[in-house]
Formats: sequence, structure tokens, C-alpha cells
Amino acid sequence: MAWRIWINWRRIIIPNNIDLSLLTPILKKYQFEEGTLIPMLQDTQQVYGYLPEQVLARLSRDAKIPLSRIYAVVTFYAQFHLAPRGKNTVRVCRGTACHVRGSGSILKTLSQTLGINEGETTNDLQFSLETVACLGTCFLAPVMMLNRSYYGRLDPQKARTVVESYARSEKES
Ligand code: FES
Repeated sequence: MAWRIWINWRRIIIPNNIDLSLLTPILKKYQFEEGTLIPMLQDTQQVYGYLPEQVLARLSRDAKIPLSRIYAVVTFYAQFHLAPRGKNTVRVCRGTACHVRGSGSILKTLSQTLGINEGETTNDLQFSLETVACLGTCFLAPVMMLNRSYYGRLDPQKARTVVESYARSEKES
């Protein structure tokens, strides 16, 4: 069972069966010491896959860190996620080199293929679609990443084929 809500015009799926007891070992490990907020959040995200609102509220209460401070950190660093993420992440580069070589149409095609917009996750939690400023491989523009693999010199059809074949192989495995 899950809730579907909208945040900043993005559809977010929030599971309602979050086990807050998973936070206990993390709180014990860091002993509420000053300067441990970022590693504590990293560990928390590793456990839950993202940083659920209920978990952050409990963290704030038990570690005695103001919730506003936690949100300031979480929303500042791109590594933290406030919504559940897909098992697989597709990152489309929107840097200048990729943009001039058509990354916009690649993003549009992948958005249609997956049925989600940039920043969203599919209902089955298989894929998240993101954009990044530069993947550091401009010579391959336009580029995308699927998890840790790079795919370069793409066009919309190639990008769609990569994602569709990956989704098929995931289903078969
Ligand atoms: S601009 Fe796309 S990889 Fe650098």
C-alpha cells in the first residue's frame, strides 16, 4: 500500500509502512555528535533508499537536531532524495555539448517511454529519470547514463532501445 502525492508538480509515491526502528542503529552509531549529520543522513538513505519525511522527523526528535537544519542539508546536496527512487536511474545530460546535439529530444523520448517526467519515478519503482549538468564525457555527446553505464552519441531511438532492452532484461532475470 502506498500514498501518491504531488510535490512541486511531481508525482511522488510514499509507502506508508516505514519501519522507524531501522533508524535506531544509526542513531546509536553517531551518538548525536556535532558534525555527524551528513554521514547520519547518508546511512539513513542507504537503509531506506531515500529520506522519508517520517524518518527525518524521528531523526530530528531523537538526535535533537532542528528539522529545519536537516531539511536545509537534505535540499542543498543533490545526493539526498526526499522521494522514493527507482531501482534503476536514467540520467540524461543537459550540458551545453549534449544540448546542442539534441539531448532535449532524448529526454522527451525517454519521458514518453517510461511514462514519467524528469525527476519522477515509475509506479513500479523500477526507473527514475533525472537530468544532470554534465556527465564529463562531452566528446560522446549526447550522453546518458543508465545506472553506472554510459551511452554516447545517442539519438532518441537509440536511447529508447537502450532503456527498453534493459527493462526487458530486468524482467527476464
Ligand atoms: S555536456 Fe553532456 S557530457 Fe558534458
